[in-house]
Amino acid sequence: MAQLTIVYATETGNSEELARKALVTAKENGLEATLTAVEDYSAEQLPATQALLFIGSTQGEGEPPSSAWEFHDALKDADFDLSALKYGVVALGDTGYGEFFCAFGKFVDEQLARMGASALVPRVDCDYDFDADYAAWSERFFAALK
Ligand SMILES: Cc1cc2nc3c(=O)[nH]c(=O)nc-3n(C[C@H](O)[C@H](O)[C@H](O)COP(=O)(O)O)c2cc1C
Repeated sequence: MAQLTIVYATETGNSEELARKALVTAKENGLEATLTAVEDYSAEQLPATQALLFIGSTQGEGEPPSSAWEFHDALKDADFDLSALKYGVVALGDTGYGEFFCAFGKFVDEQLARMGASALVPRVDCDYDFDADYAAWSERFFAALK
């Protein structure tokens, strides 16, 4: 059974709230799961990660949360073989930011795919009212993971 690593990147707590929900769901599904803030997770750990659930918001104009710059920069420069990695990305944002909507979540998704990782289900881009979108996505993600 895959070990799920849940990583969240937050500025104001929304992504952490969803990550904590995901941890509960993982346990309810009998999965082994850990919860980590992005500042405590290094891109170097990706090749050894079996299954990754990344939940992160976008700040500024298309920028990562302040705690996620190091991960962002490391990911941009990384060239790992992630063909064994299964993942899902939940991107939090606000459509009011137009072209910058969910830019950081999109970036993480693109970088993981570039290195050969496989999305278990397509990324979900959530607007400020994210609960229903997350709940629907989470059902599909955990069904695919099991
Ligand atoms: C100062 C500021 C800048 C933001 N910039 C963006 C942005 O560029 N793109 C976007 O989609 N959302 C943007 N947002 C919306 C946040 O991503 C959204 O509120 C999200 O739910 C915050 O999640 P968090 O609490 O995990 O950080 C911004 C919010 C704030 C307060």
